[in-house]
Amino acid sequence: MGLEISDLADWRAFASGELGAQWVDREDGTADLRMDDYASRIRLHVGDADDLAYIGWEVADAAALAALAQRIEGAGFEVERPGTELARERRVYDLIRFRDPEGNAHEAFYGALQRTDQPFVSPTGAHFKTGAQGLGHVVLSVRDDQAMTDFFTDTLGFRLSDYIQTEVVPGRPLRITFLRCNGRHHSLALAPVPLPKKIVHIMLETRSIDDVGRALYRCMAAGRHLSFTLGRHSNDEMLSFYPVSPSGFDVEYGWGGLEVEDHSWHVVTHDTNSAWGHVYQRPPRPAKPENN
Ligand SMILES: [Fe+2]
Repeated sequence: MGLEISDLADWRAFASGELGAQWVDREDGTADLRMDDYASRIRLHVGDADDLAYIGWEVADAAALAALAQRIEGAGFEVERPGTELARERRVYDLIRFRDPEGNAHEAFYGALQRTDQPFVSPTGAHFKTGAQGLGHVVLSVRDDQAMTDFFTDTLGFRLSDYIQTEVVPGRPLRITFLRCNGRHHSLALAPVPLPKKIVHIMLETRSIDDVGRALYRCMAAGRHLSFTLGRHSNDEMLSFYPVSPSGFDVEYGWGGLEVEDHSWHVVTHDTNSAWGHVYQRPPRPAKPENN
């Protein structure tokens, strides 16, 4: 995944110092976040957007990438094949680029560079659940969730896991659509909310509940605002909390997410976001200017 962020120093304190991803400097002054053997899981680009730059979807090999490109073009969407230079920049062997119906940038790739010679070391001792489930999940703010769902299921081959129909923020009814592309309950969720940013939140999952507890107290000690307090989600059973990143969107930091098998799963609905907790907290008001 690529993020365009404005405050590299605060991202370092947050993502690495508080959440436990490994910070790797790039020659151009930007950085990668590592969560496992992959040379890069989150690529941080410096810019003013403070939002999603692109989502990277991994496929098995060259044949799978070619077949995916053909399906996307067959559905009438343009596919870019940027070639070796960008692939090297992204730390993958090859990639394609395309946009979804609402213009969000996506990349599909294979051959991710592995750094077994420089093992992943978390500065906080955290261990992340990645592997066959990828880096986590992302929730996008969308205008037409049905058109977006059709694109991701019919063209890209995602499967519908479930819907939550609820009021995450009191007074605002909402249907969120949860889509999976591997054993993770959802790698992508679509929320028709009128947010200025593309990202509603991204989620990182740890292998231990204590990783979540330690990160929660580090974030509180650092004064991070929590958009949602600690809680357990109704649908994917994730036990998590939601600190606001230095870019203004939330990062869900969780443990215990549900793994789904295609042959036994069936679509369900929920009318609550959480089994318990996840209390929404309004962002703090900016301090009033003082009169003198
Ligand atoms: Fe989430």
